Amino acid sequence: MKLSRRDQEMLDGRHGAPLRRAMEGLVTLGKAYGAADMVDIGYAHIHAGMAMYKDDVELMEELADAGATMAVPASANIANADLVNWRDTGAPEPLARLQQRAAGAHHRMGSASAFTCTPYWAGHWPTWNMHMVSIESTVTIFCNSVLGARSNRDGFFAVYAGMTGRYPRFGYHLDETRRGTHLVRVETMPENISDFSALGYHVGKSVGGGVAVFDGFARRPTLDELDSLGAALGTSGGISMFIVPGVTPPYATVEDCFPQGRPNDAIVADATGIAETYASFSDATDVFDLVHIGCPHASFEEMKDYARLLHGKKVKDGVELWITTSRSVRNMAVEAGYITVMERAGAKIISDTCPMSCHFARTASPDPKLGVTPPTLRGIVLDSAKQAKYVRDMVRCPTLLTSTEKAIETAISGRFVPRFG
Ligand code: F3S
Repeated sequence: MKLSRRDQEMLDGRHGAPLRRAMEGLVTLGKAYGAADMVDIGYAHIHAGMAMYKDDVELMEELADAGATMAVPASANIANADLVNWRDTGAPEPLARLQQRAAGAHHRMGSASAFTCTPYWAGHWPTWNMHMVSIESTVTIFCNSVLGARSNRDGFFAVYAGMTGRYPRFGYHLDETRRGTHLVRVETMPENISDFSALGYHVGKSVGGGVAVFDGFARRPTLDELDSLGAALGTSGGISMFIVPGVTPPYATVEDCFPQGRPNDAIVADATGIAETYASFSDATDVFDLVHIGCPHASFEEMKDYARLLHGKKVKDGVELWITTSRSVRNMAVEAGYITVMERAGAKIISDTCPMSCHFARTASPDPKLGVTPPTLRGIVLDSAKQAKYVRDMVRCPTLLTSTEKAIETAISGRFVPRFG
């Protein structure tokens, strides 16, 4: 792999041990994927340092202690506990304290301790053709598909890329990968954000690791709808990018997306596919302990909508309603008065984490000293196919999937309100 003079200097240790370690990792990655050279990146969405795994936080502290810093603007991904209101989720204090240590490491390294899966709503907004890295698939997909930035679905290497400002040129950093592989004919316009999630989950199953091109939306989807669509596409499939011609830069038409020729067959996205997703995540039981909305972490516009739906209402006794959003968006919603409305209704506003990322995960093996005992939940009502999939797999809890509006109706009435019927 061709290295620049500075890449080689970093590899030789002339800029210190942390950068040598980072460049060694990136060279190994690049060789494994046959990268010809490296590119300059403009943004890095990096590993949080997950408190459920003590070593993970200590790894971030070790880098910060060694003097590692971010060479480009960087934000931290979702964490295992709300750093401030951890008591609202029942998280043990040692877990929250450990998560706060990870925030300290990020402060020292110069990365924003955003602890969110939607850093774009918090102001991290890469632009068309900017190379970047991301540990979070939702971020990768949104930035590739909506903003036209260039990102793979990365792992811990994103930290090394953030430190060096460099990344091997492979995958979605190459023009030839950013082309349609599957055509999706939209026959039913999704009616709300949750429908976009259901549709994305349905389509993702057929696209695998390809690039889905959506043809036929009756109107331009909103940013929140595109965010929800992408998150779900990346959950049922290994998708890193989708294209909506006229929305995704630089594709104006379906033909632009398929320089090799338009496929003969198309995946049909219709009401049946949407309904199937809702049905597949609605377990037979209608008993639940928690209603959750805000996956991916809610935008300001979504917070506004939740406040509208909750205004003057009261969450039923015995039911918990969690609304998850980044701390930055939460602060904006505080100023707008939305948090007061939601909290008056009895909702809990949680930042830095979500049900599948918090201490609920039964599939994690936390340090015994942290005192983490996942609660036994009888069911969780959700408005996101992504959250439903991971709650089922990682929290090992029955799910009930419905729309946002009906999830809020569920929280208020105490009885599950399905999307259809
Ligand atoms: Fe974010 Fe958790 Fe959903 S990480 S995308 S809120 S499953």
